[in-house]
Amino acid sequence: MDSGLLENTTAVITGGAQGLGLSTATYLAQHGARIAILDLNGDNASTQAANLPGSGHIGLRCDVTSAKDRTEAIEKVLDSLGTIDVLVNNAGIQYHSEGHNMPEEKWLKVVDVNLNSVMFMSRDVSHTMIRNRKGSIVNIGSIASFQAMPGRAVYSATKTAILGLSRNLAVDWGKYNIRVNTVCPGYHDTPLFREYVDNGKLDPEVIKSRIPMGRLGLAEDIGKAVLFFASELSAYVTGQAIMVDGGYTTYGAPGAIV
Ligand SMILES: NC(=O)c1ccc[n+]([C@@H]2O[C@H](COP(=O)([O-])OP(=O)(O)OC[C@H]3O[C@@H](n4cnc5c(N)ncnc54)[C@H](O)[C@@H]3O)[C@@H](O)[C@H]2O)c1
Repeated sequence: MDSGLLENTTAVITGGAQGLGLSTATYLAQHGARIAILDLNGDNASTQAANLPGSGHIGLRCDVTSAKDRTEAIEKVLDSLGTIDVLVNNAGIQYHSEGHNMPEEKWLKVVDVNLNSVMFMSRDVSHTMIRNRKGSIVNIGSIASFQAMPGRAVYSATKTAILGLSRNLAVDWGKYNIRVNTVCPGYHDTPLFREYVDNGKLDPEVIKSRIPMGRLGLAEDIGKAVLFFASELSAYVTGQAIMVDGGYTTYGAPGAIV
């Protein structure tokens, strides 16, 4: 399994203590990376980092919306792992409400976690990458970066903004050999997904029937796309977004019959 593609590479993954962040951390570690998981849940972050394949990984508590937390966490990562080559901005939350009922504090909270933190984690880590004249930042978008869904205005707005942010940072930092790309997952069976299935806001069978490949995403599907952007396989690729959704967004006419 170890391709060696991420040998001598240090990767920071926000929100990496569970779900897609954890499966991505696992996949990158399998390909040689040393991982720092930064997560609101510090205990989970440490436990999961200790269980990753290979050695030398760390897990730290960090609320990515807090400037103090980000600064302290990045210092600890640099102390422990020496540098940062890859940043995966994965931490994300949802809040569902139709526009006319949207509470302002919920809107602001989702924007803070899903968008502002991506900007400021990237800014804070860029100083190391600029010094190194090397780095890859991978932001996690969504099918909601491209499609509207009922009650998902704030989620979709932040995930769409990620595309513009990624493109613009790619332009700013190309001269420093820092690449910025976006991976847009389709539906994956994570704790976030389960929460919405359990409260009746997602129906897995309807979703599967809407996916040309007929299945939800597997744990390693996102890791594979992140590995591409994190490694030299994408050495000349920046400002791009890739859908990892089994064809969900490309399928425009579910009712059409051959
Ligand atoms: N699961 C899916 O089907 C799906 C689909 C499209 C996009 N995504 C995106 O993938 C990413 C991961 O989703 P998931 O399903 O694994 O979510 P999840 O809820 O299972 O895990 C999210 C992790 O982020 C952490 N986190 C939340 N707020 C944080 C903060 N302020 N600071 C630090 N850590 C924080 C949580 O503690 C948790 O460990 C998100 O950006 C999400 O929008 C998921």
